[in-house]
Parts: sequence; C-alpha cells; structure tokens
Amino acid sequence: MTSGGGQRVLVTGAAGQIGTELVLALREKYPAEDVVAMYRSTPLAPEVADGGPSAVGDVTDAEGFARIVEEHDIGTVYHLAAILSATGESNPVVCFDVNMGGLLNVLELARERDLRVFSPSSIAVFGPDVPSEAPQDSVLHPTTMYGMTKVAGELLADYYAQAQGVDVRGLRYPGLISWRTPPGGGTTDYAVAIFHSAVQGQPYTCFVRADTRLPMMYMDDAIRATLDIMDAPAERLTCPASYNLAAVSFRADELAAEIASRVPGFEVHYVPDQRQAIADSWPDAVVDTVARDDWGWEHEFGLEEIVADMLENLSREQQLETA
Ligand code: NAD
Ligand code: SER
Repeated sequence: MTSGGGQRVLVTGAAGQIGTELVLALREKYPAEDVVAMYRSTPLAPEVADGGPSAVGDVTDAEGFARIVEEHDIGTVYHLAAILSATGESNPVVCFDVNMGGLLNVLELARERDLRVFSPSSIAVFGPDVPSEAPQDSVLHPTTMYGMTKVAGELLADYYAQAQGVDVRGLRYPGLISWRTPPGGGTTDYAVAIFHSAVQGQPYTCFVRADTRLPMMYMDDAIRATLDIMDAPAERLTCPASYNLAAVSFRADELAAEIASRVPGFEVHYVPDQRQAIADSWPDAVVDTVARDDWGWEHEFGLEEIVADMLENLSREQQLETA
C-alpha cells in the first residue's frame, strides 16, 4: 500500500464518472476491503457498493470527513468530489463552496494526519487567452467559477506541498469519455451523451457547434495516468499538482462522423446552448510533454479506439437491459 498515515485508500466522489472507475481499479490493485468509496447523495454503482467498504459524507463537513478518515484508517485520499463546469455556472456559489471548501478540508486533514492526496485539475484552468495548444506553463485566466476553483486548487495543493510537506499530486484531465457512469454536469458531456443516442438508434442534438474542438481522453487512459502519477517517485515530479495531460483532440463533427462510420444513418443536429461559451474559452489541445518526460505518461486510446470501445460496451449494456 502506498499510503502515508493509515493503511487504506478513500475515494471521495465515488459515485461519479471517474470515481466509479477509479474505485474498481484501486480494488484490483489493492485488497478490495482497503478501498473505501465515499459518496454523498448520488448512489454508488452496484459493482462499487457490493465490492468493498463505503461511507456516506459531505466533503464540506470537516468534522464528518475527519471521522470517516479516522474510522476507516485512511492513508491516501483520491479527492474527486466536485461540482463540474456547466453545473458550476448555474450554481457558482455552491461550486466555490464544494470545490474550495472540500479541498481545504482534505488538505488540512492531510497535514494533520500525514495523508497522501490526489486532487484532479482540469483543462478548465485555461482561459481564452492561451494558445490553441496550451503549454504546461501558461497564463491561467479561466472565465468560469469551476476553472477559477481549479486554478486556486492547484495553488492550494502547491502551498500544502511546499509549506506543510503534504504529498499532493494532480493532473489537468481533458474531457473524459466513458460508458460505465453518466458524466456529471460538465461541458464535455456531449462527447459521452452522443454515444447513448447512437446505440439507442436516436439522432443526437449536440449542445456545442460542429466545429468545437476540445482535448479529450478515454477513461481507461485517465485511470492509468492517475495510478501512475501516484506511484511515480516524488523527485521526478516537476509540477506535481498540475500536469497537463493529453490524448486526443477532435471536433464534435469528427466524433459524429467516426460514430456514423460504425452506426449507419446516425444523425447529429447542432443546437449550441450556454455551454458553447465555456467550450470556446478552453484550448483546442494541450501540450503534455512535461508529463511524458517526467513520469513516462503515454496514452493508448485514439479516436477510433475510443469510438469502437464505447459502442461495444454500451451496446452490450443495452442488450442486457432489454433482455
Ligand atoms: P462527477 O460529477 O461525475 O462526480 C463528482 C461526485 O462528487 C458526484 O457523485 C457528486 O455527488 C459528488 N459530490 C458533489 N458534491 C459533494 C460533496 N459536497 N460531498 C461529497 N460528494 C460530493 O465528476 P467526475 O467527472 O467524476 O470528476 C471528478 C473530478 O475530476 C472533479 O474534480 C472534476 O473537476 C475532475 N475532472 C473531471 C473531468 C471529466 O471530464 N469528467 C475532466 C477534468 C477534471
Ligand atoms: N469535463 C470537465 C467539464 O466539462 C472538464 O473539467 O467540466
């Protein structure tokens, strides 16, 4: 076990898009009883709920969170509980409270109890003034509350690492594509929702323009990157809490065309809504050579592989549901 204070691992936000898959991956890596899935109101996926311990709690409740960490003898926290970009723009104060308050509680407890922490960042740290391919070192002028909490979260992580000696690491995930759990209110959700329409034989109404290009990644790659950075030797990490991480970058209509090549007749209509402005404020791609050089990051899934795997898994799920 790679944990600091206690023996076990805690995943906050374990009912979410990433948390569901990360808990399953951690339970492959460590004894399942050592991986605790923490959730608030959204129920855990059955395979997560049935496969090991869980705890109900709110990350903004410092005392309740500390009780969970103590009761379960936690040594490492993967802190995924957050409010994402689109929901954050509808509820900016809640977004600030959960994303900043929750992270502060995690880091304070990490300082007190010598916990290791994974705290994800996002391409949302960038704003409209970055180059279309965002370098690792760049101005960070996000225009969303979510993006602001991610920039401040990176700074808070750096502060707790440098001033308080906490081992805290993080990645700027691109938009993540996965089949097991629906996405949680982000701007990149269209790149998941489109697959659900395709397997149901329905046309998809896309909430961004056809020419919207964003950095994206398959969940399998994101989970591998998360496990790898937590295992990397600390002395190799030159920007431990804020690595750019890249896999693919494509336009919405390029994704639609790749799906249509496998689902004949699939149609997409483009009706941009308020999420277009968020997408337009993010870079088309990010440059992740520092992650590749520092700890050997390499993605495996390109657009074709993502589309093939998504369609195969969602079609199987749909057949099981209708059987
Ligand atoms: P998600 O919305 O699917 O899951 C987040 C979970 O946190 C939800 O189950 C929600 O119920 C829970 N939660 C919210 N407020 C809480 C609170 N106060 N206490 C406890 N739990 C609470 O999000 P995700 O996509 O799994 O993202 C996880 C992390 O990764 C977030 O920090 C997010 O910003 C980051 N990220 C995600 C993506 C992506 O494309 N999914 C991209 C970049 C960064
Ligand atoms: N996928 C996330 C979102 O759209 C990016 O952090 O909010």
